[in-house]
Amino acid sequence: MSLLKKSTLLSFLLPLVSAGASGFGHAFSSGPTADGNWIRTANSTLVVPSPPLPQKGLLSLWVGMGTSNGDLIQALVESYNDNIDYDCGVLDGDWCTLASALTSNGQQGGTQVHANAGDEVQMNYLYNDDTGNYDQYVLLNGNLVSTFSTSSGKALGWGTAEECNQAAPAYPCGLTPAHSWINTVLVLDQPQPDYSNTFGTFGASGTLTSSDGGKTWTADKLTIDAWNYTPTCPDDDGYKLTTLDNSVFDTTCNSDFVGGELKNSTMGSIQDCVTACDETENCFFAVWDGRNCGLKSSVAEKVVREGMIAGSLISKGC
Ligand SMILES: *[C@@H]1O[C@H](CO)[C@@H](O)[C@H](O)[C@H]1NC(C)=O
Ligand SMILES: *[C@@H]1O[C@H](CO)[C@@H](O)[C@H](O)[C@H]1NC(C)=O
Repeated sequence: MSLLKKSTLLSFLLPLVSAGASGFGHAFSSGPTADGNWIRTANSTLVVPSPPLPQKGLLSLWVGMGTSNGDLIQALVESYNDNIDYDCGVLDGDWCTLASALTSNGQQGGTQVHANAGDEVQMNYLYNDDTGNYDQYVLLNGNLVSTFSTSSGKALGWGTAEECNQAAPAYPCGLTPAHSWINTVLVLDQPQPDYSNTFGTFGASGTLTSSDGGKTWTADKLTIDAWNYTPTCPDDDGYKLTTLDNSVFDTTCNSDFVGGELKNSTMGSIQDCVTACDETENCFFAVWDGRNCGLKSSVAEKVVREGMIAGSLISKGC
């Protein structure tokens, strides 16, 4: 189960501004609704993309609704580090989907099931007039697989998100492939012809339109661009990389550490490189040149070298 930060709550209401390895990627957002108005129904279907490359970190794809009592109605399609999720089991190339809400009691949700690239996951949210709850229905290729219902007040906005959980152990999420949300339909309580004024797009194409004066808003397809969470130089210079064992490495762009070499082998990323260091006895420094990872016990000299990233252990985890 993910432990998404509370900042999630407002993110979809505002144009998202974030970069590099930080939490939120591209999005389409709508809301808030006009005073007194709210969203009755929000249905949308994710065409599940390939898992992130590398499949690291806790990456969540979702459509969410922020509500009047501060809840976030938020079914999820999530990717974890390889096979460490205890609810969905071994993912290894798959995703995990569930109905879910972030409430004052934390993240809660329904049954979790595997989803694969190419699957269609419907995230349907319906206000229930009898109970005053929002009922969530998550369908996988047309079959109902997960439900959840919360007393959350009224939904004031709706949007998509690609989110890398930054809570410890915050492993960067890698490259999130572009993906599409299809057959989106929002039904507002009252017509709001200018609801489109609240739309925000950041690395997203497609939009919602209404043909009934602003009560029902639909989009055949909203496409969300790829987002690379991998720390890159020079934007993420100084990024604090956390390993899966909770150790923290300070990274410096265009920097090489000379001396103290323990090992040098091919690795796909700086996070793999510092993780290898964390798992190697007597290793305190790791340098990655885009191809090879050098593990070091000590540093004789720090030199400027274009294209290299150097990591220094600043806090040892478990
Ligand atoms: C939204 O989804 C619900 C539950 O799956 C379904 O009953 C309803 O017909 C859908 N509404 C629209 C407008 O598509
Ligand atoms: C690894 O070894 C190769 C061959 O000696 C060298 O060219 C490269 O700079 C080394 N890379 C790192 C990151 O230490």
